[in-house]
Amino acid sequence: MFKTRLFIPGPTPLTPEVQKALSSPMINHRGPEYEALQKEVLENLRKVFKTSNRVVIFPSAGTGGMEAAIVNFLSPGDKVICASIGVFGDRFASIAKTYGADLIKLDFPLGKAIDPEELKACLDAHPDAKALLMTHNETSTGVTNDLWAIKEVIGDRDILWIVDAISSLVAIDLPTDELGVDVVVGGSQKAFMIPPGLSFISVSEKALENSERAKMPRFYFDVRSMLKSMERNQTPYTPALPQLFALREALRQILEEGLENVQRRHRMVAETIRRGVKAIGLNIFGEERFASNTVTAIYNPEGVDVRKLRAFLREKFGVVLAGGQGAIQNTIFRIGHLGYVDVMDALTVLSALEIGLKKQGFPLELGQAVRAGEEYIAEEVQ
Ligand SMILES: Cc1ncc(COP(=O)(O)O)c(C=O)c1O
Repeated sequence: MFKTRLFIPGPTPLTPEVQKALSSPMINHRGPEYEALQKEVLENLRKVFKTSNRVVIFPSAGTGGMEAAIVNFLSPGDKVICASIGVFGDRFASIAKTYGADLIKLDFPLGKAIDPEELKACLDAHPDAKALLMTHNETSTGVTNDLWAIKEVIGDRDILWIVDAISSLVAIDLPTDELGVDVVVGGSQKAFMIPPGLSFISVSEKALENSERAKMPRFYFDVRSMLKSMERNQTPYTPALPQLFALREALRQILEEGLENVQRRHRMVAETIRRGVKAIGLNIFGEERFASNTVTAIYNPEGVDVRKLRAFLREKFGVVLAGGQGAIQNTIFRIGHLGYVDVMDALTVLSALEIGLKKQGFPLELGQAVRAGEEYIAEEVQ
């Protein structure tokens, strides 16, 4: 028997209940069973988005949700500020540019979070900007932006605030309504603990008004047709039934555990991993006060061939880690820890890492990382 243990930032492991739900028989998507399914899923999605705004589900990768978050609310020529701290911020900018936005790109050094002062200067310089695009949790660098600091900078400016929360939603707190985020994008294969293939977007009243005027082309991703059908608990086209069965189950599990407990679990798992890797002399990439609770980016240790390390862990223990992306592809590796994960998983990945590093000749004493992680857990659960 060989067990695969995914420590990548999505797709994430599935609970047994979700796996079972995925093999449910098909139903008539125009019948009452479907209507009940969609109603429950949308109600529960609103709870995890912490919003009374409407939430729309698209059968698509997360990138489809990002595209929907742009094309529905903007017109070609609209000035759009995109604050990017990595690969996924860059992707948001590319989508806006593809659809003809007048893009103002505000780049921050990789490993850093958005600097509110710089953002403020940019917003002041472009009072006519229609939207601010940003990533909540930049998966490529393991950095989480401080949304409260951004909210303060936005103040009462008349700008649509559009946030890609694909790798944070559920795992890291994002109180959509309290923050006043107009459009939040989520993706299924992350902390939702279901397979890839669904994106979610929440739409504020202001965004909804914009959707009537927006001129960017759209058909499949049109939130207006989706919302119209959704009023009848229907969809304009065939919904991704297995995904929705899985989502219903996963949301029940998330809400049964309690969103706060889910987020505390993610904090503990992340901190266990951070303490462990630091105890063996590895360095976390990026500013640690913004370190993500869903993905940890670590500098490749000196003298270690990280490709070989990752291959060893995968082949020997089924432990799958992620490499770097973009400009820092060969500078870092990443441990994903979101969704169906607990502190024992954190200790598992630390012990595997210790063994793999030792095998590569990296100087360490077996048990150092696990001990540091365990000491932290003991402090936390006192
Ligand atoms: C922050 C963020 N945005 C967008 C995406 C894109 O999602 P997808 O690959 O499902 O299109 C990802 C995927 O890793 C992500 O982490």
